[in-house]
Amino acid sequence: MTDTTHDQTSDQAPSDDAPRRGPNYIPTFGDSPEGTDIWQRVPYDPDDYGAVSDFATDFDHADPNYNPNAPEIWKQLRESGCPVAHSDRYGGMWAPITHDTVHEIAYDTDNFTSRSVIVSVGRPGDLAMPAPIGAAPPITSDPPFHAMARRLLLPAFAPKQIEPWEPEIRELCNSLLDEMGDITPGETVIDAAVQYAQNIPVNVIGRMLGFPQEDEELFRKFVHDVIERITEEPGTRDGMEDLGNYIHAQIQDHRDNPRDDLTNYLLNVEIEGNPVNDDVVGGMIILLLIAGIDTTWSAIGSSLWHLAQHPEDHQRLLDDPDVMTFALEEFLRAYAPVTMARLVAKDHDFHGCPMKADDWVLLPFPAANRDPKKFEDPDTFIVDREENRHAAFGLGIHRCLGSNLARLELKVAIEEFVRRFQRVELAGDVRWSVGQIRGPRELPVRILEVAG
Ligand code: HEM
Repeated sequence: MTDTTHDQTSDQAPSDDAPRRGPNYIPTFGDSPEGTDIWQRVPYDPDDYGAVSDFATDFDHADPNYNPNAPEIWKQLRESGCPVAHSDRYGGMWAPITHDTVHEIAYDTDNFTSRSVIVSVGRPGDLAMPAPIGAAPPITSDPPFHAMARRLLLPAFAPKQIEPWEPEIRELCNSLLDEMGDITPGETVIDAAVQYAQNIPVNVIGRMLGFPQEDEELFRKFVHDVIERITEEPGTRDGMEDLGNYIHAQIQDHRDNPRDDLTNYLLNVEIEGNPVNDDVVGGMIILLLIAGIDTTWSAIGSSLWHLAQHPEDHQRLLDDPDVMTFALEEFLRAYAPVTMARLVAKDHDFHGCPMKADDWVLLPFPAANRDPKKFEDPDTFIVDREENRHAAFGLGIHRCLGSNLARLELKVAIEEFVRRFQRVELAGDVRWSVGQIRGPRELPVRILEVAG
């Protein structure tokens, strides 16, 4: 491996692409014509493909039917003897479905690179931030740089940093519930995704990073740009530079007006005694802003979707609040929201699948969590399931760094909702997200009983 690590972390931009990197250059998730900074167009035109008819040979996680029906699709694939599905879409993509195959790929950082973790019609181009760093460290990094970048972030997400946020998260949840106004039991319908779930993680990470609270809507747009606009033509996507520009402005503002927050902390970190340049710091901040928002929002929404259909579990949480220790892990297992991706690093055979360099590989951790070889009765939600080593937070070196925060937000959000609304039911159609993060985006719920 060439030693790009040192160059990239010093204040000096690397010489081969220096002309492209000015003070305003944030390489992550911008838009540019094919063949330039960021994108290399894959040979795939979504218009040539219709709806998926066979997920074994034409897998598409962005098909509108996929997220609403994902557990049934995984089950069918497994039962028809297809542990790894394939697709020509996105220039070639593989989708392992079993726990064993997902586990094996997640741990194999030689044959699979994290250079890009969101499947789209563009792969990182020749001038994008190279491996082993990638555009948003550490999630886009490979060894050995990955461990250096991860080490910088770990202290900020340790339990003793996260636990003090609990009272503020409770207050936030209660103010969102208050804002729903007067509730007439049996009549009032609220949208538990729009009025509740989507507002919680965005508020917390925005405050941690020291970004203005009024920008929360913008943060959700950034998430949408990165995660959902995956089939739009690179070079023509309006507003794709907004995220990079916003982060650049925040970095400047935090330099001019230093304060005690995560952004200023990251502006001062060092790797092996060297300051970290703005490309890398900007990428890390972007990762933190994006990684915690629709993931946790989806987990909260799916959990409330479950409770709206299972009053017995709702009642159990009210009667026996300690069951939350187990319920939390079961919500995460059964409704894991996050599928990440890898690029194949070199041609090789994976259990009979002829994988080619630069093919995409999805890592559907949610499918691994429903594998009957790993979990007894995996499609049943067992509120007090004891043995539950789920993969919702990933497997291997990239395991979620924000899991303490995610668990706290999910636990508090469910507890406060259940305490306030003691009986609820589904009140209409659910709209699911599209793509790698799975969760309800519209979730109409009728309130049947309110705490007195
Ligand atoms: C329920 C909510 C969440 C779920 C299910 C989740 C899931 C995941 C998964 C599966 C990975 C592994 C990615 C891979 O293998 O490529 C990951 C990585 C990561 N997550 Fe989370 N996440 C959640 C919330 C958060 C939050 C709140 C934060 C912090 C703001 C966060 C920050 C990160 C970071 C920084 C990484 C990259 C770690 C690395 O590459 O070493 N996540 N997450």
